[in-house]
Amino acid sequence: MKLDVFGAALSVNFLRARHFPRYIAPMSGAIRIPDGFVDELKARIRPSEVIGRKVKLKKQGKEWVGLSPFTNEKTPSFYVNDQKKIFKCFSSGMGGDVISFVMETERLSFMEAVEKLADEAGMSLPKATPESQEQYDRRQRLIAASEAAAAFYEACLRAPEGAEARRYLEGRGLRPQNWGKYRLGFSPDDWRKTFEHLKSKGFSQSEIVEAGLAVEKDGGGDPYDRFRGRLMFPIEDARGQVIAFGGRALQPDAKPKYLNSSDTPLFHKSRVLYRYKAAREAFGSTDEGGLIVCEGYMDVIALCEAGFGHAVAPLGTALTEEQISLLWRAGPEPVLCFDGDRAGLGAAYRSIERALPGLQPGRSVFFCLLSDGMDPDDLIREQGPGAMGKALGGALPLVEVLWRRERDLEAVDTPERQAGLEQRLMQAASTIQDGAVKSAYERELKARMRDHLWQQRSANRGTRQMPSRGGQVVQPALRGGPPAKTRGLGLVVRAVDDHHLAEIGFEALAVAVFPDPDVSAIRDALIGQNTAESGVDRKTLSNHLEGLGKLRAAELLTKYPDIPKIPHGGSEEREWLIALEQYARPDGADESGRIAGEAFATAEDARLRHRLVSERRARTARLNEAAEKADQS
Ligand code: UTP
Ligand code: MN
Repeated sequence: MKLDVFGAALSVNFLRARHFPRYIAPMSGAIRIPDGFVDELKARIRPSEVIGRKVKLKKQGKEWVGLSPFTNEKTPSFYVNDQKKIFKCFSSGMGGDVISFVMETERLSFMEAVEKLADEAGMSLPKATPESQEQYDRRQRLIAASEAAAAFYEACLRAPEGAEARRYLEGRGLRPQNWGKYRLGFSPDDWRKTFEHLKSKGFSQSEIVEAGLAVEKDGGGDPYDRFRGRLMFPIEDARGQVIAFGGRALQPDAKPKYLNSSDTPLFHKSRVLYRYKAAREAFGSTDEGGLIVCEGYMDVIALCEAGFGHAVAPLGTALTEEQISLLWRAGPEPVLCFDGDRAGLGAAYRSIERALPGLQPGRSVFFCLLSDGMDPDDLIREQGPGAMGKALGGALPLVEVLWRRERDLEAVDTPERQAGLEQRLMQAASTIQDGAVKSAYERELKARMRDHLWQQRSANRGTRQMPSRGGQVVQPALRGGPPAKTRGLGLVVRAVDDHHLAEIGFEALAVAVFPDPDVSAIRDALIGQNTAESGVDRKTLSNHLEGLGKLRAAELLTKYPDIPKIPHGGSEEREWLIALEQYARPDGADESGRIAGEAFATAEDARLRHRLVSERRARTARLNEAAEKADQS
């Protein structure tokens, strides 16, 4: 039986009192820490992250284990639990929360430790002045007003006036039993109803206005309700208190479609994510993966209903660095999911800059770019949760999206443009603060550039394509079809022409996923016809392909320009292999593409390499199996 070392018997307060005599309870003495501040601070911090900087920790089940920083022990008996937010040291008997850990190891007072951690967590501690207490009390009143408004909107949704909103929700597949979970509501289509209700609950006009619930006309007239006739989505802070709202119009052509609270003393939209607290709870504490970020309220809800409870959204603006920090606090590899339209791609590209500076070994973001103009809500409705899961599983690593963004900006067909591409890529990499990740990016991006140029050149050979002056992308031409679609063709043909390459590149060839199915068909034929002893030639393979009815594949192969052989064992050979490996991309069926991307991004990381290789083996085995089946039938 596995013992829970953090069993209920260990009271944190007991430990504090016993081992940390300097621990002074918040709110005592002259310095005031607002109620709930310490709770929020602890909610935002992962103890293993802070403690892990002092103590080398290894994951063991739900806990982290390491050697005690307090004694000289040889076998680890120091435990950290992120869920319970505490640590326990069995060799010294000490234990407590992250604050007491910092106090003890850095010899700080309680206040100093809180200040230090708050700083790291991006929370500012109010100054210990009488004004700040007032400010704090004011904040509490505004939260209370927002909470009261949320309750009022919820009630209105169920009242007669909410009939249209109820119909709208049912039309979007949200049944009444699910409304409560999101605290969905309806703001009456009236200029003063919400205001009057809040007044009746004891809130003053200035409180209601300051909370962003009513608007005062410029000349100082009567205030009127900000949200009227809208479906209401309460927005909560990291502690789950309502601080703002989003409101959706019910009529399809109403402008604006969504109206959000403006920034208030409670609410700064750049620092908040919709449903962050709930998503963190649903995600639990694990050191793998991360939250899902989508673009809209309804997407978060649709994801949640489909079983992806760990979804959040920014509030109608591009993702900020602060929001990315919030994501990393919940898990190391969040997936940013963007709508499958131009705007979505633009948003994805813009978030690259926001994410780069904060990358760390093992900490990144992934991109899920949906297709056909769909958002997650559409995809789930039309194709089910399985399709959504598949899309998320095929999320691309950051380095891949950065590379694509720069590569696709203009053709790389002159030395000047090549230098331009290199400059843009290196400029992006230079914004990464972590040294190890920065150099991994530089290496990876340079390797990608080499492969790309090399591929272009070999495909161009014999066709003498001139660079264009307009800056449009000129793809290496090949008679008979748009060559952009035949990416990877040159690499495969090379292996057809050179038996040695087919041998050393067998594994990479087998698992490659080419955008053009006919390139894959040539590869399949090569693998099928090739033997260890002797190679094949283009003629034999194209006959074979014609026999299978794959006429275009046969033509692509025979018409491909002659390729000069490269020396065995040299750097060109290695470049060919690396270029081929880039095609080990997601086929949607498993995670190998993502893992491949990760492994390429941090080539040193042996663990990822290992996972990559075993994934590949499994895929090669599956391919062989399928090939055998095909042979038998
Ligand atoms: P979308 O227009 O993609 O809406 O806006 P959606 O989430 O798919 O909404 P439905 O499915 O039509 O109901 C995405 C997010 O951008 C913000 C909102 O936060 C919205 O959830 N937004 C959008 C605004 O703030 N104002 C707007 O007028 C539109
Ligand atoms: Mn939508």
